[in-house]
Amino acid sequence: MKGIILAGGTGSRLYPATVAVSKQLLPVGNKPMIYYPLSVLMLAGIRETLIIGRPADLPRFQALLGDGSQLGLAISYAPQEESRGIAEALLIGAGHIDDDPVALILGDNIFHGHHFSRTLQTEAQEVDGCVLFGYPVPDPERYGVAEVDAGGRVTALEEKPVAPRSNRAVTGLYLYESGVVDVAKNVRPSARDELEITDVNRYYAERGRARLIDLGRGFAWMDTGTPQSLAQAAQYVDALEERQGVRIACVEEVALRMGYIDIEQCHRLGRAHSQSAYGRYVLGLAP
Ligand code: G1P
Repeated sequence: MKGIILAGGTGSRLYPATVAVSKQLLPVGNKPMIYYPLSVLMLAGIRETLIIGRPADLPRFQALLGDGSQLGLAISYAPQEESRGIAEALLIGAGHIDDDPVALILGDNIFHGHHFSRTLQTEAQEVDGCVLFGYPVPDPERYGVAEVDAGGRVTALEEKPVAPRSNRAVTGLYLYESGVVDVAKNVRPSARDELEITDVNRYYAERGRARLIDLGRGFAWMDTGTPQSLAQAAQYVDALEERQGVRIACVEEVALRMGYIDIEQCHRLGRAHSQSAYGRYVLGLAP
């Protein structure tokens, strides 16, 4: 399975913090935001990832993550000239996806919870159509909203409905079969002039080929698009890291645990940042 991180957009709700810096490079706790979605893909077993961002931002993403080989990954980059919607990522990434299934994740979505990596690996093994992840929210009108039958099959999907028929938001992580590029090619711009990912997902739902996994209570899903939500996410990460003494979305640790790098390489990466607590944590990891 290939991975795509969509890290575009202007981050306008975070101005002026995002005038000169991409939103997905802002820190959430002690690490750049993009480490969180990258860790999710890594935990799913994905090693080939395309990062899509604004042309001006790509050199900064590259400065941070390079070609990914230091983490045992292959990371490539592609520009999104204007924000034309999430589904456009599948068109920009068509060459990268090639004939493989793909996981698309939004660069500002943070997922954290027990057994998530196991769930991801199981789901990534065989995707028939698409797999979505649902999360109960008090304000579903802000999101894509799904209705599902007892077996978890999606029966209806709406983007930002005025009168939501469930409180189940569709989160910004999507697993697709390899044919998704052709589906995305047929999506037309919506009323807000975007290629909606919900339209791609509805294609599969209408054919009984969209499943939804409930993340539910006890799981954290956060987006970080406003100053408040960014601060809340940072507090969540700080509190858990402090209490448990472990780091969330430490990409070096994930690479080590997934067998993408060995302990020597892990410590080499830690040594490069040993002035920071983050670097010392990486340096202190045991095999
Ligand atoms: C987008 C999707 C929506 C999804 C949300 C998750 O919303 O269109 O379906 O629920 O991401 O973060 P947008 O960021 O475009 O408001």
